[in-house]
Amino acid sequence: MSDITLQNRRILLGVCGGIAAYKSAELVRLLVKKGAEVRVVMTAAAQQFVGELTFQALSANPVHTKLIDLESELGVATGEDTVTGMGHIELARWADLILVAPATADLLSRHTAGRADDLLAAVLLASRAPKLFAPAMNMEMWSNSATQQNISKLTERGVRIVGPASGEQACGDVGLGRMVEPDQIVEEVSAKFSTGALQGESLVITAGATREPLDPVRFISNRSSGKMGFAIAQAAVDAGAKVTLIAGDCALDTPDFVKRVVVESAEQMMSAVEEVIENATLFIGTAAVADYRPAKYKQHKIKKSADTMTIELVKNRDILAEVAARKNSPYSVGFAAETENLATNGEGKRRSKGVDIVAANLVGGEDSPFGSDENEVTLYWDGGEKLLKRSSKTDIARQLIEFIGLRVREQKEELEKK
Ligand code: CTP
Repeated sequence: MSDITLQNRRILLGVCGGIAAYKSAELVRLLVKKGAEVRVVMTAAAQQFVGELTFQALSANPVHTKLIDLESELGVATGEDTVTGMGHIELARWADLILVAPATADLLSRHTAGRADDLLAAVLLASRAPKLFAPAMNMEMWSNSATQQNISKLTERGVRIVGPASGEQACGDVGLGRMVEPDQIVEEVSAKFSTGALQGESLVITAGATREPLDPVRFISNRSSGKMGFAIAQAAVDAGAKVTLIAGDCALDTPDFVKRVVVESAEQMMSAVEEVIENATLFIGTAAVADYRPAKYKQHKIKKSADTMTIELVKNRDILAEVAARKNSPYSVGFAAETENLATNGEGKRRSKGVDIVAANLVGGEDSPFGSDENEVTLYWDGGEKLLKRSSKTDIARQLIEFIGLRVREQKEELEKK
């Protein structure tokens, strides 16, 4: 299977009534294994083939079956999030992608006609999410010109059709009509999310706060959670990059397919970067690296004595500036955490550190991104700036990676012209 993870991806799986519905259980298992959050909508016919409970157990979410569901309507009316409380509009908005597998001839026909006569059809009609259908039906039904015309129309509207495959069918016929295997469908789902923006790139990224030890039990640190850096690492992997994440102490799971190097102090972070930077084509510094460290590390716990105490600090090396100053330096991106004058300080930092892009954000105020799941950043590069409006860190990370991919390609094209 491909390296693309589906972490944080919300996939709504529509299951129609066909014998292939039993394979959809395996499909849910594989999607969940790749990190996706899955919700299942079953048509009435699907429930004749597989029990609701199977999908509920595999997806760890309630299964949705009714167009008018009193509980979810109650949720809408009161604004409460009841257990199954998601009506067709909420489900439609919730999904990052809608996968219908198996998609029967009837469902294809109903969606082509724009009907909304059951929950699945209504969700499909109400959603702007990308759609992927894996048809499964008798070969005659598939080759019938009515079905073929529906397929052409759906394809024109941007629905991606996977399969059907050829082989022996449940009805005994041999031909086109079998649902493609679950692992192949998962590949198609993954491909839908891979932007390819950093295909072939090798990224080194720093994240989290460093800890500068004073004695065996104390250290100087800051409030950075590492969430932004981890989200960027995830987005970079999704975009096809090979990623090494050098992180301070962060209570966050390592994104799949990311190589994580754990460090503590700024000096350790610098050494870890130096070890791997040679082969990197990209460097992103999101870490909140301590600017200073205690001049002396005390081997034994500092004892309380005088009423005041002075700790001498010495400057740490600037990892980002040193990476950017290297001969054949990778394309470098830094973050600027500012409490005021975002534009002047952000662009100033970009120039003084000699980096290609600075992503500047305001910290310290009410909307401070430290520890939060949201952020808003302004990107500064040579000749431009762009605001990435307040959104989840996952979303900001994806936008940033897309933008970096674009700038890297542009830079390559410019170099080739010279
Ligand atoms: N950075 C770094 N090494 C350091 C200090 C900072 O790599 N020793 C990187 C950060 O990862 C970030 C960028 O430099 O990408 C800017 O960090 P920031 O703390 O905003 O700026 P400083 O250079 O520390 O300047 P100041 O604290 O004076 O604002």
